[in-house]
Amino acid sequence: MKYFVLLLLLIAFTGCSKQTVQSINTKFPHGQKLYLSKCGGCHRLYDRGEFKPEQWDTIMVSMRSKAKTTAEQEKEILLFLKERE
Ligand code: HEC
Repeated sequence: MKYFVLLLLLIAFTGCSKQTVQSINTKFPHGQKLYLSKCGGCHRLYDRGEFKPEQWDTIMVSMRSKAKTTAEQEKEILLFLKERE
Protein backbone atom coordinates (compact mmCIF):
# COMPACT_ATOMS: atom_id res chain seq x y z
CA MET A 1 0.00 0.00 0.00
CA LYS A 2 2.79 2.38 0.94
CA TYR A 3 4.50 1.67 -2.36
CA PHE A 4 1.27 2.20 -4.24
CA VAL A 5 0.95 5.73 -2.82
CA LEU A 6 4.56 6.44 -3.65
CA LEU A 7 4.00 5.25 -7.17
CA LEU A 8 0.96 7.50 -7.55
CA LEU A 9 2.96 10.46 -6.25
CA LEU A 10 5.71 9.70 -8.70
CA ILE A 11 3.28 9.57 -11.61
CA ALA A 12 1.60 12.81 -10.53
CA PHE A 13 4.95 14.52 -10.12
CA THR A 14 6.40 13.54 -13.48
CA GLY A 15 3.09 14.31 -15.15
CA CYS A 16 3.17 17.83 -13.74
CA SER A 17 6.76 18.55 -14.63
CA LYS A 18 6.01 17.73 -18.27
CA GLN A 19 3.15 20.20 -18.38
CA THR A 20 5.26 23.16 -17.32
CA VAL A 21 6.70 23.29 -20.83
CA GLN A 22 4.49 25.63 -22.81
CA SER A 23 3.30 24.63 -26.22
CA ILE A 24 2.78 27.20 -28.97
CA ASN A 25 0.84 27.54 -32.17
CA THR A 26 2.97 26.22 -34.96
CA LYS A 27 2.84 24.95 -38.49
CA PHE A 28 4.67 21.89 -37.20
CA PRO A 29 2.55 20.46 -34.38
CA HIS A 30 4.00 17.00 -34.89
CA GLY A 31 7.58 18.26 -34.49
CA GLN A 32 6.53 20.22 -31.44
CA LYS A 33 4.90 17.19 -29.88
CA LEU A 34 8.10 15.23 -30.41
CA TYR A 35 10.18 18.05 -28.98
CA LEU A 36 7.99 18.21 -25.90
CA SER A 37 8.09 14.47 -25.33
CA LYS A 38 11.76 13.86 -26.24
CA CYS A 39 13.42 17.08 -25.10
CA GLY A 40 10.78 18.74 -22.91
CA GLY A 41 11.55 16.57 -19.90
CA CYS A 42 14.89 18.35 -19.59
CA HIS A 43 14.34 21.63 -21.46
CA ARG A 44 11.89 24.46 -21.75
CA LEU A 45 10.81 25.46 -25.22
CA TYR A 46 13.56 27.80 -26.41
CA ASP A 47 12.53 31.11 -27.93
CA ARG A 48 12.80 31.44 -31.63
CA GLY A 49 16.10 33.11 -32.43
CA GLU A 50 17.94 31.77 -29.37
CA PHE A 51 19.79 29.41 -31.69
CA LYS A 52 20.52 29.71 -35.41
CA PRO A 53 19.30 26.97 -37.76
CA GLU A 54 22.82 25.57 -38.20
CA GLN A 55 23.31 25.49 -34.42
CA TRP A 56 20.28 23.22 -34.08
CA ASP A 57 22.01 20.62 -36.29
CA THR A 58 24.98 20.52 -33.91
CA ILE A 59 22.76 20.53 -30.84
CA MET A 60 20.72 17.63 -32.18
CA VAL A 61 23.88 15.57 -32.66
CA SER A 62 24.94 16.15 -29.06
CA MET A 63 21.44 15.60 -27.62
CA ARG A 64 20.72 12.50 -29.68
CA SER A 65 21.92 10.05 -27.04
CA LYS A 66 19.94 11.78 -24.27
CA ALA A 67 16.72 12.14 -26.28
CA LYS A 68 16.90 8.65 -27.83
CA THR A 69 15.45 9.87 -31.10
CA THR A 70 15.28 8.10 -34.44
CA ALA A 71 16.52 9.84 -37.60
CA GLU A 72 12.92 10.37 -38.64
CA GLN A 73 11.99 12.01 -35.33
CA GLU A 74 15.07 14.22 -35.48
CA LYS A 75 14.02 15.50 -38.89
CA GLU A 76 10.59 16.45 -37.51
CA ILE A 77 12.02 18.10 -34.41
CA LEU A 78 14.60 20.05 -36.43
CA LEU A 79 11.93 21.24 -38.84
CA PHE A 80 9.91 22.53 -35.92
CA LEU A 81 12.90 24.18 -34.21
CA LYS A 82 14.18 25.87 -37.37
CA GLU A 83 11.02 26.80 -39.24
CA ARG A 84 8.49 27.58 -36.56
CA GLU A 85 7.02 31.08 -36.51
C1 HEC B 1 18.14 13.78 -20.20
C2 HEC B 1 18.01 15.22 -20.31
C3 HEC B 1 18.12 15.85 -21.68
C4 HEC B 1 17.39 15.56 -22.81
C5 HEC B 1 16.35 14.47 -23.02
C6 HEC B 1 17.78 16.53 -23.80
N1 HEC B 1 18.72 17.38 -23.29
FE1 HEC B 1 19.49 19.03 -24.17
N2 HEC B 1 20.80 19.29 -22.64
C7 HEC B 1 20.81 18.54 -21.49
C8 HEC B 1 21.95 18.96 -20.66
C9 HEC B 1 22.33 18.37 -19.31
C10 HEC B 1 22.59 20.00 -21.38
C11 HEC B 1 23.84 20.80 -21.00
C12 HEC B 1 25.07 19.97 -20.99
C13 HEC B 1 25.40 19.29 -22.30
O1 HEC B 1 25.59 19.99 -23.32
O2 HEC B 1 25.44 18.04 -22.31
C14 HEC B 1 21.83 20.20 -22.61
C15 HEC B 1 22.11 21.16 -23.55
C16 HEC B 1 21.23 21.52 -24.58
C17 HEC B 1 21.27 22.74 -25.33
C18 HEC B 1 22.27 23.87 -25.15
C19 HEC B 1 21.72 24.82 -24.13
C20 HEC B 1 22.51 26.10 -24.04
O3 HEC B 1 21.99 26.99 -23.33
O4 HEC B 1 23.59 26.21 -24.64
C21 HEC B 1 20.22 22.70 -26.21
C22 HEC B 1 19.80 23.80 -27.16
C23 HEC B 1 19.56 21.43 -26.04
N3 HEC B 1 20.19 20.74 -25.03
C24 HEC B 1 18.49 21.01 -26.78
C25 HEC B 1 17.93 19.72 -26.69
C26 HEC B 1 17.02 19.14 -27.66
C27 HEC B 1 16.55 19.82 -28.93
C28 HEC B 1 16.69 17.90 -27.19
C29 HEC B 1 15.78 16.87 -27.83
C30 HEC B 1 16.20 16.35 -29.10
C31 HEC B 1 17.38 17.72 -25.91
N4 HEC B 1 18.14 18.83 -25.67
C32 HEC B 1 17.26 16.61 -25.09
C33 HEC B 1 19.89 17.57 -21.14
C34 HEC B 1 18.97 16.99 -21.99
